[in-house]
This record gives sequence, structure tokens and C-alpha cells, in this order.
Amino acid sequence: MDMKELLQKRRSIRKYADTPIEKEKVEQLIRAALLSPTSRNTRAWEFILVEDQEVLAKLSLAKVGAQPLKGAALGIVVCADPEKSDVWVEDTSIATIILQLQAQDLGLGSCWVQIRERNYQDGTPAGAYVKKLLDIPDHLQVESIVALGYPAETRQGPSEDELLREKIHWHTYKG
Ligand SMILES: Cc1cc2nc3c(=O)[nH]c(=O)nc-3n(C[C@H](O)[C@H](O)[C@H](O)COP(=O)(O)O)c2cc1C
Repeated sequence: MDMKELLQKRRSIRKYADTPIEKEKVEQLIRAALLSPTSRNTRAWEFILVEDQEVLAKLSLAKVGAQPLKGAALGIVVCADPEKSDVWVEDTSIATIILQLQAQDLGLGSCWVQIRERNYQDGTPAGAYVKKLLDIPDHLQVESIVALGYPAETRQGPSEDELLREKIHWHTYKG
């Protein structure tokens, strides 16, 4: 699949087959994360890979909208140290989408589960819940968790008329 097709076909996948992800594919996901660009090459991120179904089920309770993690073959928690990078949100977001695009290229489905700025059901930060569950040290902040697995649903890419062409401005905003 070339880049054009990859982008056209990418959709969030929230239901996954029981099939585990092969070791070589997990290794390629790890490489993709570590190859993702960061401001000033600070690489302030950290990635926690979770395969345990019980832990994934607990992570799926971190906030409303985290349910894709339940039944995923793998969850990759993307966090960073804000002391090491003032743009850790950008750096972790880039790593998250790079992981998703790499996943698609490997024939896997994925979904971005937002953690930063989201709350657990009792109103406390979802990040605090995730940190406690996974023993993540205090100085790190959680941006997202990528849910991954072989797709158990098919979703079409958007049609040409779903593209919001009005968002594109040439030369000036009013252009
Ligand atoms: C920053 C960001 C946060 C997201 N958070 C969630 C989430 O918490 N749960 C979820 O199911 N999907 C989440 N998504 C997926 C979006 O809902 C999805 O990308 C969007 O609806 C477009 O659909 P598509 O990815 O299938 O094209 C998130 C996507 C982004 C970019």
C-alpha cells in the first residue's frame, strides 16, 4: 500500500480479532515510535506496551471512549516528561499518529484513545488512573493510548465529497 492509499483508507478501528500481533510486527511498531520526530530531538517520550487482557480491560475504564482497549491485542501508552520538553503534547501526538499509520501499513487496526485532559468517571484525571494502574512515575504525563489489533470491523475511507475543501485557503485566508 502506498502513502496515498494508506491515507485514503485509514479509519479508526475499535473492534479487534482475538489474534495476537506477531513479534516482528510489535518490533516494527516499537521502531516506528522511536523513529518519530521530536522538537529539538529531545525524545522526552516513554512508551508502555500492554498485552495483558485484564490490564487492557482496566485501561478501557480510564474514561468514556476508552472502550476500544477492551479486547485489543495491544495497547501502547504514550507519555512524556514535560520537564524535558515544553512541546511534549506535540511530540507525543506525532508518535501516536505515526504508530497508527505504521499499524495500518502492517495490516492492523488502531484507535487513538485520548487521555490528557480527560477524566475518570469520578472526575479525577484519566491520566492519574492510568499512571496508578501501570506504575508510571509522577514526573510523566500520559497523552494517549493506542489500541491495536487485527480488525474485526471494516470501515470505508471517506468519499471525495466528504473532504472539507473549504478548509483550504490559498495565499490569504479569504483568498
Ligand atoms: C486527538 C484525538 C483523540 C481521539 N480520542 C479518541 C478516543 O478517546 N476514543 C475513540 O474511540 N476515538 C478517539 N479518536 C478517534 C477519532 O474519533 C477519529 O479519528 C475521528 O472520529 C475520525 O474518524 P476516523 O479516524 O475513522 O477517520 C481520537 C482521535 C484524535 C485525533
